[in-house]
Amino acid sequence: MSTATIHKGLAGVAVDTTTISMVNPETNSLTYRGYPVQELAAHCRFEEVAYLLWHGELPTPAQLSAQNATERAQRALPPELISTLLSLPATAHPMDSLRTAVSILGALDPSEEDNSPQSNHTKALRLFAVLPTVVALTQRRLRGLLPLAPRTDLAYAENFLYLTFGEIPDPVVVRAFETSLILYAEHSFNASTFTSRVVTSTLSDLYSAVTAAIGALKGPLHGGANEAVMAVLTEIGTPARAEPWLREALAAKRTIMGFGHRVYKNGDSRVPTMRQALAEVATHRNGTHLLETYEALAKAMLTAKSLHPNLDYPAGPAYHLMGFDTPVFTPIFVAARITGWTAHITEQLAANSLIRPTSIYTGPPERPLT
Ligand code: ACO
Repeated sequence: MSTATIHKGLAGVAVDTTTISMVNPETNSLTYRGYPVQELAAHCRFEEVAYLLWHGELPTPAQLSAQNATERAQRALPPELISTLLSLPATAHPMDSLRTAVSILGALDPSEEDNSPQSNHTKALRLFAVLPTVVALTQRRLRGLLPLAPRTDLAYAENFLYLTFGEIPDPVVVRAFETSLILYAEHSFNASTFTSRVVTSTLSDLYSAVTAAIGALKGPLHGGANEAVMAVLTEIGTPARAEPWLREALAAKRTIMGFGHRVYKNGDSRVPTMRQALAEVATHRNGTHLLETYEALAKAMLTAKSLHPNLDYPAGPAYHLMGFDTPVFTPIFVAARITGWTAHITEQLAANSLIRPTSIYTGPPERPLT
């Protein structure tokens, strides 16, 4: 039997350095390239944060307008992709549609195998531009509506919401939506980002790495939690039901989605900002009852298990009040996290080493084949 130490779930294991973001559970802080995420959420547009994650610095006005021009010109979907998406069963989960879309975009790209920084940046910007169009198409399909054409006169968040709902909502909703995108954009070596780095470390292509990352994000212990949170809040129904519901759920050994975190043990640094955005949307969209249920469950969970909410907890009900159907919550997370994933893919390639851990064999000892 080997004496090697097992780090189950890689908990607490540092596998590489990164200059992209820093999560500090002691000070309950998260910075992107050194800037506190709360300040970015308060003062920046999502396009600026995307630039920061890719290039390491915030853009000058000229750099931003050049990026915007390239992004806006690439928002439309190729016809092959539209027809494939529309041929998927209407019951397909939007995360499956998104995963399929990225795979098709890779197959259509003659530069798929070119892993140079320039080529990969071009691909990252293309995916950034096109993913809202895919998410909006799947959301509209869930409601039996035809897709809309993207608008090049609108900023990223406004275009995303227009493509989904056919109108641009009130600035309160736009700002809350953009806040969620900025908070979701990047979070160090989380499961999906690490997945993208593992795939990249084999020198596979960016589309393959992103497709794999989408698969990792879909799980309810990771990004899928924002959808699961909405199911929980709907099941609870009223603030008064939160405490007895939780007692029963914990007695049944259920995992309460939207609570707990591998790194933050005293609260997720992103939650206060997103909770504020949720409260603003709740006031604006008649969601006070949902907000009260949200607060009641958070209070009961802290008392019962000393567990704090993670970002998915406020994001789920916020997206619900904005008007999205639950199955597109995690796809919105993908559209935001594409920035962080692709920044990490570039960083991995710049100093690559194949990621290949070992394991300790505990199966039957060697035996003859009879
Ligand atoms: N509900 C009930 N109990 C929980 C929860 C929860 N949400 N989270 C942690 N615990 C308990 C565990 O049962 C465990 O108890 P035990 O020591 O008595 O066995 C203890 O707290 C430690 O939890 P672990 O699962 O060991 O912590 P880990 O770091 O491995 O897991 C995770 C982190 C996966 C996020 C976990 O907290 C969880 O399952 N949460 C719910 C899913 C979720 O919200 N995921 C979103 C993550 S954030 C994001 O993707 C943006």
